[in-house]
Amino acid sequence: MSMLKSDLDTPALIVDIDILRFNIDDMAAFAAANGIRLRPHAKTHKMPQIGKMQLEAGAIGLTVAKLGEAEVFVDAGCRDILVAYPLVGASKHRRLVELCERAQITTVVDHVDIAEALSQSMSANGIQLPVMVEVDTGLRRCGVLPGAPARDLALRIARMPGLRFVGLLTHEGHAQLAGGPDQVRATGLAAGEVMVETAELIRAAGLETPIVSVGSTVAAKITATVAGVTETRPGTYVFYDRSEVLHQIVTPDRCAARVLATVATRPTADRIILDSGAKALTSDRTGVSPPVAGHGYVVGHPDWQINSLSEEHGSTSVPADDPARIGDRVEIIPNHICPVINLFDTIHVTQGDRVIDQWAVAARGKTQ
Ligand SMILES: Cc1ncc(COP(=O)(O)O)c(C=O)c1O
Repeated sequence: MSMLKSDLDTPALIVDIDILRFNIDDMAAFAAANGIRLRPHAKTHKMPQIGKMQLEAGAIGLTVAKLGEAEVFVDAGCRDILVAYPLVGASKHRRLVELCERAQITTVVDHVDIAEALSQSMSANGIQLPVMVEVDTGLRRCGVLPGAPARDLALRIARMPGLRFVGLLTHEGHAQLAGGPDQVRATGLAAGEVMVETAELIRAAGLETPIVSVGSTVAAKITATVAGVTETRPGTYVFYDRSEVLHQIVTPDRCAARVLATVATRPTADRIILDSGAKALTSDRTGVSPPVAGHGYVVGHPDWQINSLSEEHGSTSVPADDPARIGDRVEIIPNHICPVINLFDTIHVTQGDRVIDQWAVAARGKTQ
């Protein structure tokens, strides 16, 4: 394909292959240097091509949130998948059984009712499914509380015929709202420590607890350094986004995925309309505390601010004397890249100014 970025129509999602590869290798090197297993969350990219790059760089398997995502990655040849979401209902159990015939599948449980139903379905099919107990280290989403509640659930799971307890899992995503770098660090370390303590409590009760799994991009290089953590599951790190730039984890040049946009019009001297609205950028705010205004970072234009979005319009304030003209093109680093990827059928793979490939976002829209 001999095409240039400037040949692409907009809005388009572009991913720079060199930055992507750098990010993948960098996290793989971090995990290897710290003796931690890497199981990246593939819901960020939803593309087998990128999953393959992660596995080739040393990841032991992939994490997903949805069975539909797991099916796409197993179809593409991935043989070890963690479904990090509570699997409830007969239809999901049926699909899980089918997946177990084709790959090593692990899942999470944070409630005894979920565990019992899962155990019943699995044992009826002659399966003993590896499960981790999900622990809430502060995000207040899924997860049983650390300490005795997690231990007691693990001990109950250990007696269920269709399940095999293999460890603990947390998503320390609350670290991103903790505040500045010091607070992020303290929150990430605290999450890792409480996980290791809980694992020790379970071991003291006589149950082997081989896996202590943590995962987030903002605290990836913090939580996983706690002695006793065995696995890390960052997702966003393949691309990074404006939230990680605001957290000062990376600079914009490490953001591999961008929305290519065009100045569609300039109704007033101080307001331009980019052709990328909520259908290209999502309306997600920045994952930082306190929140930072704007719907993305317009590369090379620090004084532009995308103030508001409608579906197809990015209403952007610019200095009245800005030389921008209708038809000009810009690259936008979104606030939160994961849901942005889910909006596009394909990404354009770029290298410098060249477009070298086009990949389908194969696991997009897999809501079940
Ligand atoms: C269970 C779980 N693990 C890992 C991650 C990866 O976190 P991040 O997107 O910060 O890399 C997520 C993200 O939502 C998650 O839900």
